[in-house]
Amino acid sequence: MNPVRAVKGMNDVLPDEIARWHRVETAYARVMALHGYREVRTPYVEPTPLFVRTIGEATDVVEKEMYSFVHHDDPLTLRPEGTAGAARAYVQHLVHNKEPVSRWYYVGPMFRAERPQRGRYRQFSQLGAEVFGDAGPAMDAEMIDMLVGFLATLGIKDVRVLVNSLGGPAARARYRDALVQFLEPRKASLSEESQRRLTTNPLRILDSKSPLDREAVKDAPPVVDLLEGEDLAHWQALQQHLNALGTPYTVAPGLVRGLDYYTRTLFEIKGATDKLGAGDTLLGGGRYDGMIKDLGGPSVPALGFAAGIERLILASDAEVAAPTLGAFVVAVGPEAFDYALVLGRDLRAAGVSCEVDARGSSVKAQIRRAVALGARFALIVGGEEATTGTVQVKDLAAQAQEKVARASVVAAVMSRLDVPLAKAP
Ligand code: HAM
Repeated sequence: MNPVRAVKGMNDVLPDEIARWHRVETAYARVMALHGYREVRTPYVEPTPLFVRTIGEATDVVEKEMYSFVHHDDPLTLRPEGTAGAARAYVQHLVHNKEPVSRWYYVGPMFRAERPQRGRYRQFSQLGAEVFGDAGPAMDAEMIDMLVGFLATLGIKDVRVLVNSLGGPAARARYRDALVQFLEPRKASLSEESQRRLTTNPLRILDSKSPLDREAVKDAPPVVDLLEGEDLAHWQALQQHLNALGTPYTVAPGLVRGLDYYTRTLFEIKGATDKLGAGDTLLGGGRYDGMIKDLGGPSVPALGFAAGIERLILASDAEVAAPTLGAFVVAVGPEAFDYALVLGRDLRAAGVSCEVDARGSSVKAQIRRAVALGARFALIVGGEEATTGTVQVKDLAAQAQEKVARASVVAAVMSRLDVPLAKAP
């Protein structure tokens, strides 16, 4: 029989690799706590119309990347991203009535049926954040600066921060017309996909990867040139705040991002292409001031971002130490198994991580396993130790062995491992 394999583009993370994930997730939880964000968990499956309405019908994600199915007449979709679900939860639970500003964050799997390659998967994990109720632009600058700092704590170097602004719906519509006017005479030189997009979603032509399209849009008018009034003031203030923070950034007129819900500020942070290949965008985000209202809520401005955890791991150089074990209890023969089990439980209760080996293998094999696991101590117990109430304590780092009374062995191991004494409950 053929072995069953994981779905293409959906990967296992085995225990050998998990320390890298924990490192990113722990660093992120810390950054979030420092900035006053609280975690939200929303379902992995949402009604399909939620994504169609927010992300937009004429986007790659909605047109060809969603895992959608019908269950008992309900059209459902595995979430391709976290913003729409967070916004739905915000509206559904009337959160705006409880607090003026909500800073939420999330970590979890997302699903997009893309062509799998390095850094691009069909199930991938994002860490992200959404802020509801702050119209910026100071908030926008704080978020971008926070993300630059977060990447630095992960040891990710050579990042490029790209920012742009689409303005509000009126500016966007104005720009759309200007772009179509500019591209119409050049239509024949566009890729087939972009010729179609010229009517469905012309802004997307700006960030097409096709060399034909890149050439055609080279001299397209920058979107920020058409900003007026409050849109323009927001854009200028964002840059002023970033300058004050000393956050390096580049204005990227071609940055439109692949989701239709954005208004005003857009940003991406890119990493080194040699490590990430085509998927060199570590994270992206922006403002989506219209979404909460579009979903039936009040008019509440919103801003957010998301990063691909796999890409952060690929981009990070830092070595991650594998976790080690405090003690390994070597049980020699069945007559010592009960004695070993109780010893193991006492050690763990005192905060010493340990494994008990009661498989009946030889002492030599068990010591070898203890070393492989990085244990500091091998605690050897056989029939004699069980009867006399003792334990052979072998310090695997110092290569020394001594007999210790059972009553004092836990304290002895704790003191040498620097495990703090547990407080009385
Ligand atoms: P996005 O640009 O579609 O934005 O995705 C954000 C990040 O998720 C990307 O920069 C990338 O690191 C990662 N990512 C996306 N697709 C894949 C994939 N197929 N494989 C691996 N990693 C991937 C959003 O998702 C928005 N929800 C961000 C946002 C939040 N905007 C406002 N709030």
